[in-house]
Amino acid sequence: MKTLGVVTSGGDAPGMNAAIRGIVRIGYTKNFNVVGFERGWDGLLKNTNRLLTPRSVSGILHMGGTIIHTSRCNEFRTPEGIKKASETLMENNIDGLIVIGGNGSFQGALELSKKTDASIVGIPASIDNDVYGTDETIGFDTAVNTAVADIDKIRDTADSLERLFVVEVMGRTRGFIALSVGVAVGAEVILVPEIKQEHDKIFRTIKENRKKGKRSHLVIAAEGIGDTRQLAQDIEKATGAEVRLSVLGYTQRGGNPTARSRLLASLFAEKAVEIISRGKKNRVVVLKGSKITDIELEETCTNEKPLDMRILKLARILAT
Ligand code: F6P
Repeated sequence: MKTLGVVTSGGDAPGMNAAIRGIVRIGYTKNFNVVGFERGWDGLLKNTNRLLTPRSVSGILHMGGTIIHTSRCNEFRTPEGIKKASETLMENNIDGLIVIGGNGSFQGALELSKKTDASIVGIPASIDNDVYGTDETIGFDTAVNTAVADIDKIRDTADSLERLFVVEVMGRTRGFIALSVGVAVGAEVILVPEIKQEHDKIFRTIKENRKKGKRSHLVIAAEGIGDTRQLAQDIEKATGAEVRLSVLGYTQRGGNPTARSRLLASLFAEKAVEIISRGKKNRVVVLKGSKITDIELEETCTNEKPLDMRILKLARILAT
């Protein structure tokens, strides 16, 4: 029997558990033992191995977070860390390691792949949806739906009191969440870290909208655009609108995964196990259109996923 290792690394994302369950159950049907390393890359440094069986992953499909825990581990990035991790893989006779995580995790996976004979396969899981090569990451759909449900409630109170809300959503460096959420809630303004927006232009849009008779406003801002509290104050001063700020924060990272996140996780798991059982090495599973396929791990690590500007343009038209 061959052995598969699995690790969840970086920020957790709803649907990681569904991916673990899929790997274990599909792996067993293909005669793999499955070993989980607890607490991300730190688990490979400390050899926190734990046997995962089809029964031990019962009852986790609907749960957010990750039952094998995760971490952001700086020590792993050092040459000594990579060496220790490759030794851990050898000690546990790991033929293939599946890394469930985002960009940071895949950079680590790429370094490790250069120092081990085991096949390293990435499954993209991050609420930020910023992994190059895949249309969607596990957890993104859940995070967007969580934010939309909260912001729909904010719209009610914004309408009633004819206020403007600046709502900060997650996305420290990328605006995928802000963009999808913005369109889904009918935001009047969407702000993403990738595009610097002149404040004067934002003020003008809001003033024009008020003249046109718009009673409430939603400004959806990714956390990466800067100080949203200051922005809210500046909008109030420049437009005369009554402004409130709402920071949604970490609720977007937790909660039950949506059906879409669970399905994507299960399909990604199937592909990852297939790649390893075919003896392919160092790949990342991706969704392209409606197809689950795979690309080089290195390709994911050396490219940046572009934001779809057509959606931003569409959002502006829809908000008129
Ligand atoms: O998981 C992605 C993400 O939520 C980013 O949008 C955010 O900037 C970051 O993680 C914050 O996570 P932490 O506080 O765990 O570093």
